[in-house]
Order: sequence, then C-alpha cells, then structure tokens
Amino acid sequence: MKTIVHVVGARPNYMKIAPLIESLRRGSPFRQVLVNTGQHYDDMMSRAFVRDLGLPSPDYDLGVGSASHAIQTANIMIEFERVCQTERPDLVVVVGDVNSTVAASLVAAKLLVPVAHVEAGLRSRDRTMPEEINRIVTDRLSDLLLTPSLDGNANLLAEGIPAEKIHLVGNIMIDSLLRHLPAASLDRMRDRIPVEEGRYAVLTLHRPSNVDDAAVFRRIIAAVRAIAESMPVVFPVHPRTRQRMRDFGLNGELDGVFLHEPLGYIDFLSLTAHARLILTDSGGLQEESTALGIPCLTLRENTERPVTVTHGTNQIVGTETEAILAGYRRAVAPAASTRRPDLWDGKTADRITHVFCDFLAT
Ligand code: UD1
Repeated sequence: MKTIVHVVGARPNYMKIAPLIESLRRGSPFRQVLVNTGQHYDDMMSRAFVRDLGLPSPDYDLGVGSASHAIQTANIMIEFERVCQTERPDLVVVVGDVNSTVAASLVAAKLLVPVAHVEAGLRSRDRTMPEEINRIVTDRLSDLLLTPSLDGNANLLAEGIPAEKIHLVGNIMIDSLLRHLPAASLDRMRDRIPVEEGRYAVLTLHRPSNVDDAAVFRRIIAAVRAIAESMPVVFPVHPRTRQRMRDFGLNGELDGVFLHEPLGYIDFLSLTAHARLILTDSGGLQEESTALGIPCLTLRENTERPVTVTHGTNQIVGTETEAILAGYRRAVAPAASTRRPDLWDGKTADRITHVFCDFLAT
C-alpha cells in the first residue's frame, strides 16, 4: 500500500491538512501518516486546533520548538529525515509557507520522494518576508503544485514551472471554514468577550515587520485606539506580539481593546464570522474574511493573495496611522458587492484527492 506523509507544524497548517486527510480517508486507498514538527507548541497555538478540526493525533511529534530560522529549519530537517527513512513515503504533502513547509520539502526532495505543495504559487514579491523565501523554494522543489487561484498558476508558469505539474484546485482553508461555520455562533464567546453581532472589530498582528519594530507597532496601535473609540476591538494576542508589547511598554495604551489569549479554531471563527471589520497582517485571515464577506484591512504593504482585493473584501492599507484610518472609513461605508473566488467552495480537498490518485496510480 502506498504511503502519504503529511507535515504540519504551525497554527496556519492544521486547517489546511484536516480536510485533506478526511477526503483521502474516504476517497483513496493510501496509508496516511501525520507528522507534527512542533514549530508551534503552546496548547492554544497547536493542540487546540488538532482537537477543533478533528485531526488524528500525529504519528510523529518532532518537538522542534522555537529558534532562529536556520536552527529551526535545520532541526526539522534532521528529525524529518529520520521519519522519511522509517516510513519510505510515496508522497510528502506540505502546506502553506512556514518554516516546517520548506524544511520538509528539502528533505523529501533530496531523498527523491515526490513533494505535493498545497497552496502553491502565491507570491508577495517581498523577499523581506521569510514566508516568501519559503514559498519560492518549496514550489521549486515540488512535483505537484496545487494552487488556490489562477494568479498562482500564472506566477508558477512565469518562473518556468512546467504546466503539467500545476493543478488549480481552489482554497482548502475554505473547506475547513465552511465545514465549521455552523458551529461558530457568537454565543460561544459571549461569556468571555461581550460584543454584539456585527458591531465590533477583530484585530490580529504577528508579522515581525509589524511587531518587532517599536515605531511601526506604535503607529498601528494609534490607529487601533482611534477605531476603538467607535467600535470595540477584540485582539487575540499571538505569543510573539505579547512579548513585544511587554518589551515596548504598550500594554497601557490599548483602552477599548479586549485583549485575549490566542483562541482555538472554532472560537476564533465565531468571532470573525460575526464581526463588522477585521484588521490583520495574517495571510489566511485575508482569505477567510473574503469567504465570509466581512471587510478586511490588511496592515501590510503587499499581499501574496491578490484575489482577496480584486474579488473580495480586502484592502491593503500599510502601517501608517492615517492610511489605516482612511481604510477604516472606506470599510464601514456601504460596500460594493464582493464575491467568493472560483473554487473556494468547500470541495478543494476532494479535487486534491483526485490529483493524488492519478499521480500515485502510475
Ligand atoms: C509562524 C510562521 C508564519 C505564520 C505564523 C502563524 C514562519 C517563518 N513563520 O510565525 O508564517 O503566519 O507562524 O502564527 O514559519 N511562540 C510561543 N508559542 C508557540 C509558538 C511560538 O510562545 O507555540 C513564540 C516564541 O517566542 C517564538 C515566537 O512566538 O519565538 C515566534 O514563533 P515562530 O514559530 O518562530 O514564528 P511565528 O511568528 O509564529
């Protein structure tokens, strides 16, 4: 029996692997092995997602934890090579653009094990983002490039990737979102966060370029405080961001903002699905807000997910206080209609299962 090894490691990976494991279990004959690198390890960054999404317990927990990019990537490679030598996979599946993604791809490619990259082809063209380096390297090494939208195909073709390796399958994160949306009522959160349907904003921030630079972080906080004068802002705080807030003495500057620990997948979805506005520097949340039809302000200078701007609800506003507030005024004005991009329909995992069945049949 052929073996597929799936790799997860950081918070944004779990919702991309869960629907695929489920679809392969129903629709393919392959043995599946789940590897968790341990890039994220706090309960609310990792295990809460495994539980919420109904993922099986990992077969391997590599326990690599936090470190510099080189050390983290190298530790994942050392441990993952052992897994590949034991399991002898016929295919390694990686998702997204985190360090675990590129580390596992490098190991598999050198062992001549085919790599499938789910969420291939996204490009911000900003190499100061570690994720952009991870995307470029992973795509270069992959044998199956599974893209969420047509811009991904165009980027890959422009880089010389052969067309026969590229498969437009849609956005697998939206499979998880649509599956769990019925459970994501605002009532789940009421005892913890007293907000009213459609009358609050949700903020997430964790990019090093935003939170490791005190001047940038302060400019964003100034805008958030101004927004919080007209609507409550809920801010689940990433561990990196929490640390920087302490370092820069920002904790006292957030009147009107509900700070919270990181939330599990369904709790967080119940906040975003009922919000008036989302402010974020996350990649995935740009897509989730477009799928939900909730206006989103992206606190970055660029995006690797342009369909969220051309088709969806996203505005790229940067990190200047005034630009964020101008974006806010546009976002709360009556909006032109937006739509969910093609193939963001909850059926992406099944399309990937078909691609894998064809690939492994030969
Ligand atoms: C990583 C990904 C990023 C993704 C993000 C989602 C890379 C290069 N970056 O960034 O693309 O958007 O995850 O969260 O792979 N920490 C904890 N507990 C944890 C995890 C992290 O306390 O469970 C703290 C540690 O101090 C760590 C810091 O957060 O040093 C940053 O974690 P790291 O995984 O290095 O990067 P993220 O910023 O989370």
